Amino acid sequence: MSKPLTGKVALVTGASRGIGRAIAERLARDGAAVMVHYMSSEAAAREVAGKIVAAGGKADIVQGDIADLDAVARILATTKDRLGRLDILVNNAAEGPRANFDKVTVEHYDRLFAITRGTFFAMQGAARMMGEGGRIVSITSAAVKSCMADAPVYAASKAAIQTFSKAFSRDLGERGITVNCVAPGVTDTDMVRGGPVALLDSARKGNAFKRLADTTDIADIVAFVCSHDARWLTGQVVGADGGL
Ligand SMILES: NC(=O)c1ccc[n+]([C@@H]2O[C@H](COP(=O)([O-])OP(=O)(O)OC[C@H]3O[C@@H](n4cnc5c(N)ncnc54)[C@H](OP(=O)(O)O)[C@@H]3O)[C@@H](O)[C@H]2O)c1
Repeated sequence: MSKPLTGKVALVTGASRGIGRAIAERLARDGAAVMVHYMSSEAAAREVAGKIVAAGGKADIVQGDIADLDAVARILATTKDRLGRLDILVNNAAEGPRANFDKVTVEHYDRLFAITRGTFFAMQGAARMMGEGGRIVSITSAAVKSCMADAPVYAASKAAIQTFSKAFSRDLGERGITVNCVAPGVTDTDMVRGGPVALLDSARKGNAFKRLADTTDIADIVAFVCSHDARWLTGQVVGADGGL
C-alpha cells in the first residue's frame, strides 16, 4: 500500500536531535525522502539518515547554520540537487538560550533574530521551488502566548515567524501551498533538559496531561499538517502544547 507522502521530498532543519529528529523519522515513515539538516551534530545526523535508509526509506544529510543566509540558500539547493525536488519544508532549527530582559545582550538578541531571518529566507527560497501541494511548517513555541519572563527575545523571535507565516499563507494559497506553524509546549529534549527545575515542574503541572511532551507527540502533529488531509489548513498556529 502506498504511504501518504510517497514521492514527496522533505527538508527538516535541525533534524540531528530532538523534535526535528522525530519529525524527520515520522515523515520518512510516511514515505517522504528526507533531507536531514544539522549544524554541528554530524554523527547524529548520519545516524538519523542511516536509520531511515535501513528501514527502506531515502535520506541524505546537509550541514549549515540557519543564521547564515548563504548556508540557507545552499541547504535548499543541495536538497533539490540530491533529492530532485522540494515539497515540504519544516523550519525546526533554533536555539533556546534563556535570559530575562535585564540579562539580554546585543549578541543574544542578534543571534536569535538571525535565526528568525534565516527562517524567513528559507521559506522564501522553498516557496520558489515548490509546486501544488507544497507544505511549509515552522516550529514556533507556546512561549509566544505564555511570554515567560526569562525568554522575551526567544518568544518575540518565534512570534515574528508566526506573523510572517500568516502573510506567506495569503500569497501561496492560490498555488496550493499551505503555510502553518506548530507551537509546542515544553518538550523533553536537550533544549530544556538541565534547565531550571521550576520551569520543568510548572510545564508538567500546566498542561492537561501533567507530563512533558515527548518529541513524537509533536512530530505526529507536524505529520498531519504536512499531509494531504491538511490541505484546507493554512495561516494557522497549531498549539501542540497538551492544552497548556
Ligand atoms: N524543547 C522544547 O521544550 C521546545 C518547546 C517549544 C518549541 N521548541 C522549538 O522546537 C524546535 C526544536 O527544539 P528542540 O528542543 O528539539 O531543540 P534541540 O534538542 O536543542 O535541537 C536543536 C536542533 O536544531 C539544530 N540547530 C540549532 N541551532 C541551529 C542553527 N543556528 N542552524 C542550524 N541548525 C541549528 C541543532 O543542530 P546540531 O545539533 O547539529 O547543532 C539540533 O538539530 C526549536 O525550534 C525550538 O525552539 C522546543
